[in-house]
Amino acid sequence: MKEQTEVVICLGSSCFARGNKQMVQIIKKFLEDNNLMHKIKFRGKHCFGNCENGPSIMIGQKRFEHLDPESVLVILERELL
Ligand code: FES
Repeated sequence: MKEQTEVVICLGSSCFARGNKQMVQIIKKFLEDNNLMHKIKFRGKHCFGNCENGPSIMIGQKRFEHLDPESVLVILERELL
């Protein structure tokens, strides 16, 4: 895993209403539980411009779409651990 990886969550209204509100807490807890808070920059951003494929997050340059609370954890484990 690279240092200073950035995780960006879409907080635009569509993604937010369809699950990213809860996903903020899920991602935060994942980063805390895995002691990654000092290595990963986690921030929110307004609409990624691809609402129909949301809820979305980005990890580095990769975008992940159609997420739910289970799939986001699988992706975080695969990309960050
Ligand atoms: S609200 Fe997330 S892509 Fe538009």
